[in-house]
Amino acid sequence: MKKSSIVLGSLLLLGGMASAADIYLSDAAKVPDLVMKDTGLGFKDIEGYQNYRIVATHFRKDKHEIRYILANPVAYNALRTHASVMPDGSKVVKIGWSVKEMSPFPAALEADKIQRVEYMIKDKTKHAESDGWGYARFVKKEGTYQAWKGDPKSCVACHASVKSQDALFTKFQTMF
Ligand code: HEC
Repeated sequence: MKKSSIVLGSLLLLGGMASAADIYLSDAAKVPDLVMKDTGLGFKDIEGYQNYRIVATHFRKDKHEIRYILANPVAYNALRTHASVMPDGSKVVKIGWSVKEMSPFPAALEADKIQRVEYMIKDKTKHAESDGWGYARFVKKEGTYQAWKGDPKSCVACHASVKSQDALFTKFQTMF
């Protein structure tokens, strides 16, 4: 092989690697600059959440929505070891998709459109009044995210029903 073609080949290889890395980064960087009006919590507080690990899947029968629950490394380790109280720095994210029948096998449902991304962030000092958790929800309508305009106190109230589980409904879902 000629030296020039080796150089060219290496450049192409490097180029390919760089663009794969770019895709990974730009996905994370796409998080819009939106902030919840009451709490000041932003979408950017979970930037890179696409790379968090899945800890559970849920299906809401009433909303007909499939949900993935993802955890950042702090929350992942705590959930995996069944910690009774999640440490500060824990971030738990829920992504909700509408579902549609899978073509050509309609008995199977598959995720369709993202409807929401919402999260809980643990900071016992900052969110002392809501069991240490900060709540935020971003809804996606016609392809665009917006900060949910409701009152985050409603999040706190409903999650208080599982106070004994540190306000988390999610349980670490076994995979083996
Ligand atoms: C009426 C009850 C109710 C309200 C209100 C509510 N949630 Fe939840 N939430 C649930 C239930 C039930 C689950 C578990 C099932 C699921 O994933 O939807 C859950 C799960 C979650 C999870 C995954 C962690 C966990 O606790 O399992 C997050 C994050 C979350 N909710 C955020 C929010 C935010 C943010 C709000 C307010 C904007 C909110 N929730 C309002 C009932 C509620």
